[in-house]
Amino acid sequence: VITKVKARQILDSRGIPTVEVDLHTNKGVFRASAPSGVSSGMYEAIELRDGDKGMYLGNGVSRAVKNINEKISEALIGMDPTLQVQIDQAMIDLDKTEKKGELGANAILAVSMAACKAGAAEKEVPLYKHIADLAGKTNYHIPVPAFTLISGGKHAGNILAIQEIMILPVGARKFEEALQIGSETYQHLKAVITEKYGSHGCNVGEDGGFAPNISSLKEGLDFVKEAIARTGYNEKIKIAIGVGATEFCIGTKYDLDYKSPNKSGQNFKSGEDMIDMYKELCEAYPIVSIEDPFDKEDWEHSKYFSSLGICQVVGDDLLTSNAKRIERAVQEAACNALLLKINQVGTVTEAIEVTKLAKDANWGVVISQRSGESEDSFLADLAVGLATGQIKAGAPCRGERLAKYNQLLRIEEELGDKSIYAGDDWRHC
Ligand code: PGA
Repeated sequence: VITKVKARQILDSRGIPTVEVDLHTNKGVFRASAPSGVSSGMYEAIELRDGDKGMYLGNGVSRAVKNINEKISEALIGMDPTLQVQIDQAMIDLDKTEKKGELGANAILAVSMAACKAGAAEKEVPLYKHIADLAGKTNYHIPVPAFTLISGGKHAGNILAIQEIMILPVGARKFEEALQIGSETYQHLKAVITEKYGSHGCNVGEDGGFAPNISSLKEGLDFVKEAIARTGYNEKIKIAIGVGATEFCIGTKYDLDYKSPNKSGQNFKSGEDMIDMYKELCEAYPIVSIEDPFDKEDWEHSKYFSSLGICQVVGDDLLTSNAKRIERAVQEAACNALLLKINQVGTVTEAIEVTKLAKDANWGVVISQRSGESEDSFLADLAVGLATGQIKAGAPCRGERLAKYNQLLRIEEELGDKSIYAGDDWRHC
């Protein structure tokens, strides 16, 4: 049973406070921490921050920590950690608000994840297995990683409007090979960028992708194409882009120069122009997935673009992992994949539920990082347990990103013959 829940404030990968929890049971102490991102919208669960400008510029989470130590702890002590649904419901009931703003989604999620780890230990099974049991799954697919190679948008200080360019080693036989492909391409890319921009072009963004001062997506794609060519893995690698178009949508137009101080406003594109651009790029490069190609309220262009069936269309800001938004998007066929950010929903149980919603609609599901991560590797087990087929955890570089990828290596090793790398089935495994 749960004997104690103790929280503390730690720093995430951006140096900003987040919540860490130690959940004690008769079997030991189980630790988890909440991720945090920059794109937070009105549809996602509320991250509770102190707002005291004198401490961490207002970003402290001491109120969320206090809520765990004083309220959540009392409600959960004595509960069986394998009962994830009941544990999550107890916190939702205690919070009483729709978006978990009373206790804080950062408080609730960290406890939910720690309880899930404790539940696995109670059953003496690996975490991914416990998650699979909770979700009623029996297949253990190791997801295809989407490695961020170039960062832009709000994740980097360069002038690139687009959030990221990623590679998917779908042709690898195992995750181990996928990681090798990711690492080698990343290292080749470093050389390719250095040749043109010098070593300062290899400064990195929040999630470890290189952030050379390029303004065009095409230039970034050419860099990646050249790096892939140097690895010799052309046949095994596909490309994905994360656009994050909400960040540069002004009215009904898209400003691809929004980060360029001298040019902003001169390169406005309409939704139709954006569609033409995506079509051209998908023809010129092996692009198989585009995330948030339009503003989060631009359902019409998203619907039309998805209907073309050119590639996977992933909803991040469009959906904010929110069940109601997902239901609407399924009904309207506004996209065909969910980017699942667990702190936008706030509990493991609800993360499982929204994954089911998406999978039932025959969508792809991408388990996703936030720009602010910790050394917690929970997402790796979640992706295997839910057999989503896809995980986006940043570059094959930097500790908080590798915590997830290295954990996938361990899971693959442990599963041995029973492990299946999602590979070509990445969208629908
Ligand atoms: P975030 O985005 O900055 O909102 O966490 C992360 C991502 O989409 O990869």
